Amino acid sequence: MCGIVGYIGPKNSVPILLEGLQRLEYRGYDSAGIALIADHKLVVHKKAGKVAELVRMVNGNGHGLTAHLGIGHTRWATHGEPNDLNAHPHWDCHKEIAIIHNGIIENYVTLRTKLVLDGHIIRTKTDTEILVHLIEEMYKRANDLFTAVRLALLEVEGAYGILVVSTKEPDRIIAARKGSPLLIGIGERENLVASDAAAVVDHTRQVVYLEDGEVACITANSYVTKTIHDKEIIKEVEEITFDLQQIEKGGFEHFMLKEIHEQPESIRNSLRGRLLMPEGVVKLGGLEPVLDKLYSAERIIIMACGTSWHAGLAGKFMLEQLARIPVEVDYASEFRYRNPVIKPNDVAIVISQSGETADTQAALREAKSKGAVVIGVVNVVGSTIARGTDAGVYIHAGPEIGVASTKAFTSQIAVLSLITLLLARHRGLAEEQCRLLAADLMSLPDKVEKVLGESDHIKYLAGEFKHVQNFLYLGRGSNFPTALEGALKLKEISYIHAEGYPAAEMKHGPIALIDENMPVVFIVPKDAIYEKVLSNMQEVRARRGKIIAVANEDDHEIDQLADHVIRVPRTYSYFGPIVNSIPLQLLAYYMAVARGCNVDQPRNLAKSVTVE
Ligand code: G6P
Repeated sequence: MCGIVGYIGPKNSVPILLEGLQRLEYRGYDSAGIALIADHKLVVHKKAGKVAELVRMVNGNGHGLTAHLGIGHTRWATHGEPNDLNAHPHWDCHKEIAIIHNGIIENYVTLRTKLVLDGHIIRTKTDTEILVHLIEEMYKRANDLFTAVRLALLEVEGAYGILVVSTKEPDRIIAARKGSPLLIGIGERENLVASDAAAVVDHTRQVVYLEDGEVACITANSYVTKTIHDKEIIKEVEEITFDLQQIEKGGFEHFMLKEIHEQPESIRNSLRGRLLMPEGVVKLGGLEPVLDKLYSAERIIIMACGTSWHAGLAGKFMLEQLARIPVEVDYASEFRYRNPVIKPNDVAIVISQSGETADTQAALREAKSKGAVVIGVVNVVGSTIARGTDAGVYIHAGPEIGVASTKAFTSQIAVLSLITLLLARHRGLAEEQCRLLAADLMSLPDKVEKVLGESDHIKYLAGEFKHVQNFLYLGRGSNFPTALEGALKLKEISYIHAEGYPAAEMKHGPIALIDENMPVVFIVPKDAIYEKVLSNMQEVRARRGKIIAVANEDDHEIDQLADHVIRVPRTYSYFGPIVNSIPLQLLAYYMAVARGCNVDQPRNLAKSVTVE
């Protein structure tokens, strides 16, 4: 969703804000803006479109903007279309107070009516502008910005990460969060505040994460944190764990391509130090506090959204097959609204790359409130979900910037594989079997590396199919989630309509779509149901559909049936989605490039969806 950055200190804040916004742009990119306080005046620049438009506007005005305090925002529209007017920052009636906001103010209509009656002039259709007028109103009573923000937030329902500045108090930024992430970056005689560590890591590695219901007053040399109810709190300073180069493109044309190619390393990092070879014993320190509960679990409920949900489906397959434990996989957004049945021996697992997805946060709260132990499988260290769970395993995939998730998906499955082995061993899976599975897991990075060698072939296929309107992805067993993920990747970044289906279900509907214009991607490794999938391929062929098969290197039978074959090494079917999703990521990538789409920032999507 929206990206937020603020700076206060001796330097000129303008380039710091603009660079920060460029690093945050992957979070939201329909408009951007900055507010500066210079010579006791509020200066605002905002523009619809990419951050580059704002940079052109700011640099092009020739005034050499300088200010030691400023806030900046990239927007992903919720209320009001993405135009110059609705872009953040917004300001009060006298252009003295400015605000940027990530989230949704749910009771803004009621607040708006009241504020209009009190004489406020509201210029936009955004919920955010209402909040700044409310702060203006509270300032009349409190005469102190920190207090005014706090008082205003007591009247607000909804979610927010906000920064507020005022010409009347030009030495401070007020920050507050509820449901949308914010952290303070602590520098020397300067401080930053942002929605994401990526915007501050250039300047400092020391950060303080704000929790829900907390408000901070940040000056160049200090920061004070309080609860919204005015209780002062002392926060722990934490260290950012990634490097700047990890959030740069490193010679690749797009972040997505870089992240696809990082997978041998990111999978290695997910496994590193956690799988003791050759015995295949799993050590997951983060699960120690809940191990007893996990071992005695009678059911596991996995909750996630989007790509992470697909990883959950892959997890279900292996947990049920190997650990013999029933697993349900729920869309986090549905789980919370159906009064789910949770039993005392249920364990919930929430999967989230960002650790900030609003629906997943809500599902986590729901599961906890009903008494389940909740385990997190999260990428972003220190994120809200990571901190809200009872225990967890970080996937250590490193920052993922491309909006379409790739390396996080394979690392999520790698970590679910570890949890599976841990449980399977405890529940009696033979040692020899565990050893073999562990050896296969350890070989995955090399196998993925090998699939990356197919890039040129896949690029060629993308050229062949770039004009089609629809795609079907079919797989069975553990590769049904692979099919879903392949289809999702394609539609996200190339805007081609694509559907993933269990191959055998094709005859119950999608077969009606098949003709010579319909490409069908089959994920068809040589596993227990290989022959069955071949029959489905025959059915497509009989209707002149075009077949692209993702098949094993030693499978020669497939050449008779498929129009195109992408070769992948053999692996245990449990871990198949890790290897077999790589060519599908590459296919989506090259299709999008061939169609001239913006791969890293596809239209309407956001990397981290912090609203319901
Ligand atoms: C958004 C992203 C997807 C992601 C989903 C869940 O829709 O565009 O790539 O899979 O959110 O995000 P999470 O961070 O919870 O894994």
